[in-house]
Amino acid sequence: MTTRKGILLAGGSGTRLFPATRGISKQLLPIFDKPMVYYPLTVLMLAGVREIAIITTPRDREQFERVLEDGSQWGLSLTYIEQPSPDGLAQAYLLAEDFLAGSPSAMVLGDNLFFGNGVGALLAAAAARETGGTVFGYRVSDPERYGVLGFDAEGRVTEIIEKPENPPSSYAVTGLYFLDGTAPERAHAITPSVRGELEITDLLGTYLEEGALMVETMRRGYAWLDTGTHESLLNAAQFVGALQQRQGIIIASPEEIAYTSGWITAAQLLDLAAPLKKTDYGHYLEALVNDS
Ligand code: G1P
Repeated sequence: MTTRKGILLAGGSGTRLFPATRGISKQLLPIFDKPMVYYPLTVLMLAGVREIAIITTPRDREQFERVLEDGSQWGLSLTYIEQPSPDGLAQAYLLAEDFLAGSPSAMVLGDNLFFGNGVGALLAAAAARETGGTVFGYRVSDPERYGVLGFDAEGRVTEIIEKPENPPSSYAVTGLYFLDGTAPERAHAITPSVRGELEITDLLGTYLEEGALMVETMRRGYAWLDTGTHESLLNAAQFVGALQQRQGIIIASPEEIAYTSGWITAAQLLDLAAPLKKTDYGHYLEALVNDS
């Protein structure tokens, strides 16, 4: 089995969140107690992906490196790739072509937050499929803001349309894509859309046409949270804060996943917890070792 590599796409200029993002990348803004990028990063970790390319802008690269380092502290290997201009999500496969070197991939958008009991199993199933692709559909009240699934009478997916004025369904495609090693060559073959971008939906369409795209629905009980507006950003922070406080857990901790996956030792975890000792986050990490 070829090892699946990860892509975390954190480019973009964040203009929709101005002025909050004038000085900092959107994906580094805090969601409650941790940088936004921790959430998608830990999704890749839960899928068992440890070799990850972080795609960022020339402006923001240094800040990402300060936050995530080379990943070895969490049992990961992180590579940084600069995206000079944001020309569409499918461009990520071109920028990461050499990094992937033919491997299957899991790409997650740096501003997508997933949470739910059983996410790990869902991800593991997608990661285990060696050919074709897997994406996730999620019911939303505002599908026109996303890539949207169209179904036939038998409930089979027939199309994926980017930000349609008249959405064919309420099911959006989330920003998490498991694709096989052919993704970069497919990205070379697609052409920019009317808005001038290499659309991920067009890339997915090539898999769909061949009957090679698995579309899983994330049902009730999973949260796929939006961070596209100031309001949704605040909602996401409140969601995470409420759950963490009620249950005494930390959501999306790379340290915890690295430790429970056996990628770092108890001693390494305690070293990582030390600088966080003034926070609930730090106490939580210490308790993982001391209470077990
Ligand atoms: C992008 C994709 C869209 C997908 C969405 C998920 O939209 O183009 O297909 O549904 O991410 O977050 P964007 O966030 O770039 O508007």
